[in-house]
Amino acid sequence: MTTDRAAVLAGLGAWVPPRTVTNDDLSQQFDTSDEWIRSRTGIATRHFVDPGMATSDLAVEAGARALKSAGGPAPDALVLATTTPDRPCPGTAPDVAERLGLGHIPAFDVSAVCTGFLYALATAAGLIAAGLAERVLVIGAESFSTILNPEDRTTSVIFGDGAGAVVLRAGRPEEPGALKAFDLGSDGTGVDLITVRAGGSQQRSTGLPAALEDTFFSMQGQQVFMQAVLRMSASSRTVLDQVGWSVEELDALVGHQANLRILHAVADKLKFPREKAVVNVDKVANTAGASIPLALADAAADGTLRPGQKVLLTAFGGGLTWGSVALEWPELDLA
Ligand code: UT7
Repeated sequence: MTTDRAAVLAGLGAWVPPRTVTNDDLSQQFDTSDEWIRSRTGIATRHFVDPGMATSDLAVEAGARALKSAGGPAPDALVLATTTPDRPCPGTAPDVAERLGLGHIPAFDVSAVCTGFLYALATAAGLIAAGLAERVLVIGAESFSTILNPEDRTTSVIFGDGAGAVVLRAGRPEEPGALKAFDLGSDGTGVDLITVRAGGSQQRSTGLPAALEDTFFSMQGQQVFMQAVLRMSASSRTVLDQVGWSVEELDALVGHQANLRILHAVADKLKFPREKAVVNVDKVANTAGASIPLALADAAADGTLRPGQKVLLTAFGGGLTWGSVALEWPELDLA
């Protein structure tokens, strides 16, 4: 941050929908196996929304928990990271703010796929640094199960639904919990590597009805895998340099939970011990914009993240987009 006002982590909460789906469950539906999914991704289970449940429902649950964790005054802004909004228009955030009883605060969505939460954090930190907000509720919420192609076994087994949220408050850069440094980037030449082709102005402007497969999520897995490793490791290094921490000083690496092999490859590239990479992809799979706050909530709850630790968050996703954030873990009341 360039001012002496910093955004400080003050609350954390998460929620996943109750329905657990195992690899064996998916093997009933697709030509796949528990062995393939575990060995290629590290995923064992994930949660899916039931019909009638939307991303806003997940966001409200996680948001309420983060607000309870933070205590104190109500937030004066809400930023929601999601690529699976309740509808293309309007954004999902105003409805979430209303349902959380937050009144007429500014509330808007940020769309950066799996990097969405870190973009939303940066946006919220910017609002605080500019004096436009004192406390911001930042939520990452996704229901990717609603956009998966039932004909595509590869993408259908790697995603899950869920939400995580934090409260950022205005504070000082030297406080524990202050977001110390950001790196954000994008590369639009990779726009087609992760995409839902239909539903936007580009396809609608042809006047032709969308092909069914274009209404679903699609991904070129191997290219994305390589880019994810390169971008997250490079971005992590950039933030470590900015904040002046060596890799040896770092206590925890909280990477976007897309694939255990990616998390290990990023750790290897950074020469960081694999066992200090936070992992919950086994339990929740890839929850896109909800991935980082869900991983933070799990790691904080089980004591992996402890006050005073030096923590690096890093993510990569569609766009292509990527980003990293450094902070010293604060004392938090977990809801
Ligand atoms: O969240 C945003 C960022 N996203 C990511 O970072 C995801 C990055 N990509 C990946 O994690 C991996 O590429 C996947 C997990 C998506 C796929 O793993 P892979 O090791 O790259 O598999 P592949 O696509 O190269 O496929 C290998 C084989 C193929 O069979 P052949 O051609 O070798 O006979 C696939 O047909 O695995 C087959 N396969 C499956 N087999 C059983 C693909 N999906 C499945 C499946 N079950 N679900």
